[in-house]
Amino acid sequence: MYIITDEMKKQLIGEAIKMLARSYIPYSHFAVGAALLTKDDKIYTGCNIENAALTPGNCAERTAFFKAISEGEREFKAIAIVGGKDREVTDYCSPCGVCRQVMREFCVPSEFVLLLAKNVDDYKEVTLEEMLPMGFGPENLC
Ligand code: THU
Repeated sequence: MYIITDEMKKQLIGEAIKMLARSYIPYSHFAVGAALLTKDDKIYTGCNIENAALTPGNCAERTAFFKAISEGEREFKAIAIVGGKDREVTDYCSPCGVCRQVMREFCVPSEFVLLLAKNVDDYKEVTLEEMLPMGFGPENLC
């Protein structure tokens, strides 16, 4: 598991919390914010973006990943995730299966850290390997 300083963890969670205000959630009213840390300590944020046709909607985690990937980033250390109904965080928010698979494409499962947070002082820290055991990744196609 990558070592992330407490200061950086708090910063990531803080950035994820800020993104709750940006979530476009007219259908579920469930806001999710994410903040993704690159190998070089750059932060890319994301929010969920829903759609009237439902399936085109995008999760906060994938928004953050796709922003980063499209800017040329390829290596990541950690992601902070927060979420809650009506933008109020009352519990830990776990990433959906599709988002875990996107993480699997670009992250080292035993190293990549997920911070599932209620606030900057209350969070669960898990690896991608724990969230997606025996996942299918790029090396399986070699
Ligand atoms: N959502 C995320 O953004 N990330 C997750 O990992 C779980 C679900 C969003 C999708 C949808 O806009 C809303 O939360 C309710 O499912």
